[in-house]
Amino acid sequence: MYKVHCLNNISTEGLAVFTDEYELVDDIAQADAVLVRSADMHEMELPANLKVIARAGAGVNNIPLQKCADAGIAVFNTPGANANAVKELVLAGMLLAARDIVGGIAWVQENAADENVGKAAEKAKKAFAGGEIFGKTLGVIGLGAIGAKVVAAAEALGMKVVGYDPFVDADRAASISADMTFVTDLSDLYPACDYVTIHVPALNTIGMVNAEAIEKMKDGVVFLNFSRDTLVDDAAMAAALEAGKVARYVTDFANPAVAAMPRAIVMPHLGASTKEAEDNCAKMAARSVMDYLERGVTVHK
Ligand code: MLT
Repeated sequence: MYKVHCLNNISTEGLAVFTDEYELVDDIAQADAVLVRSADMHEMELPANLKVIARAGAGVNNIPLQKCADAGIAVFNTPGANANAVKELVLAGMLLAARDIVGGIAWVQENAADENVGKAAEKAKKAFAGGEIFGKTLGVIGLGAIGAKVVAAAEALGMKVVGYDPFVDADRAASISADMTFVTDLSDLYPACDYVTIHVPALNTIGMVNAEAIEKMKDGVVFLNFSRDTLVDDAAMAAALEAGKVARYVTDFANPAVAAMPRAIVMPHLGASTKEAEDNCAKMAARSVMDYLERGVTVHK
């Protein structure tokens, strides 16, 4: 019997993948396998018997990779399993930046008790006018599972796309989109784009969106970060928002430097928070654990 410990709530559909050779245990010390979502494992003592950790999500920055490698513990993530959910929130983020949806809804709520609210709204709406994303240019940094979906969705909405990914060659880029302009230097992406969205892991990319990078962007750019907070230098972003260089910063990370800024649109890490994504990630994570424990390999599926 293999023993599995869940460090976070893992979807029951995912746990249902385990056969009767698997037992869920409350005591992590007994675990052969750990399933984790966002719990930070860096300071945790790893169980002596632990053979595999599966993260129900894409990023593995909450897992001590070197410690696991030294202890011979395999680590898996679930690439692509939540890509659709993140893509949909990126689209929502662009629309929230283009149109003052939040301001307009708040105005209606504030004035809802007025019996003439409908008439007043017709006058008030001028203050909430916006722009369209149709015809605008979106820069996509990182053309992995999420980035590729964002490219397709943006093009379907009539945006032009400039893509960059140092791990992707021209053939792969063309298979993602024949219409996308593929660049091999970020300095060619930044000045060309009205919107820029980043979809890369937090590795040697930490702090890559710094003052120097922001300076290269178009004046009035909208920057979206649904990857990891550490990719963006918050102080530089706050200064750019203050100066109007960046018109809107849409981010999934509630860091104090930007959270209260009027032109920042900040969400509480909701990118993968859909039932569908949670089920997909949990199922892929459970299958990885089973493949690894039973056959010593894993194939993402
Ligand atoms: C991911 O790493 O897959 C997303 O950021 C969502 C999450 O952390 O759960």
